[in-house]
Amino acid sequence: MSALDRAQAYDRHTGRYAPGLAAAFVRFAGVAPGMRALDVGCGPGALTGELARVVGAALVGAVDPSEEYVVACRLRVAGADVRLGRAEDLPFEDRSFEAVLAQLVVQILDDAPRAAREMLRVATPGGIVATCVWDFRGGMPLLDAYWAAAKSVDPEGARRAGADDTNPWCMQEGLRRLWREAGLEEIKTDELSASAEYLGFDDAWWSFAAGVSPSGVYCRSLDDERRTALREEFRRRLGASEGPFSLTARAWSVCGRAPGA
Ligand SMILES: C[S@@+](CC[C@H](N)C(=O)[O-])C[C@H]1O[C@@H](n2cnc3c(N)ncnc32)[C@H](O)[C@@H]1O
Repeated sequence: MSALDRAQAYDRHTGRYAPGLAAAFVRFAGVAPGMRALDVGCGPGALTGELARVVGAALVGAVDPSEEYVVACRLRVAGADVRLGRAEDLPFEDRSFEAVLAQLVVQILDDAPRAAREMLRVATPGGIVATCVWDFRGGMPLLDAYWAAAKSVDPEGARRAGADDTNPWCMQEGLRRLWREAGLEEIKTDELSASAEYLGFDDAWWSFAAGVSPSGVYCRSLDDERRTALREEFRRRLGASEGPFSLTARAWSVCGRAPGA
């Protein structure tokens, strides 16, 4: 798959919500013109683009371990400094950015506390450090319906694929603790929402059937009979009408300041 194909597949999956979420997240964090801003785990660049809109691409850095996403983000946000790397070991100097943000990333990291310390390391004294994650406990209708359907048609397989994963960073209190233990100050949390439009049920199903993200990899691992059962149960739980519909998802967010302003 080319970089742009991969980016477009992500756009049709949960990336569909990313631009709206990025706008709300940047407002919540208080990113303002003149700040140097970093997007950690940038993917194909929804948040990078929003940061560039607010502060100008020349002041924006971005980093992701996926080469395809780095290529896509460079193409989409010309002028931003997009690098290959991991949140746990950021390829940027100490105290380089007035705002360091990560959207929909900490829940998938092997070592989120280390990533939080790294985000603080590259922030200037008094700089903003913020993250947001989906509320996977009833706040993300698309994935809630999908995994509930998977557990109903394939209980064991769905659990092995992560349907019941409970990640402490996907709750407001967990995020607050992550930020406090990393050493951030003036911590605030909030609830953000973002909507996505679908042309119809097939549009919502497409990314799962195409194998996008771990949920799609799980879908592709099923035999035809189970995949059909999953599709029908997902349709039922989503309650999707024949025509276009929209879904609104909730994300938890946390923002703090680097000490020493
Ligand atoms: C759900 S996507 C979010 C992408 C983007 N931030 C957005 O809001 O659309 C998760 C991203 O985290 C990236 N990622 C995975 N492991 C990472 C790591 N160790 N450090 C930084 N990013 C990571 C993935 O490559 C992917 O781009």
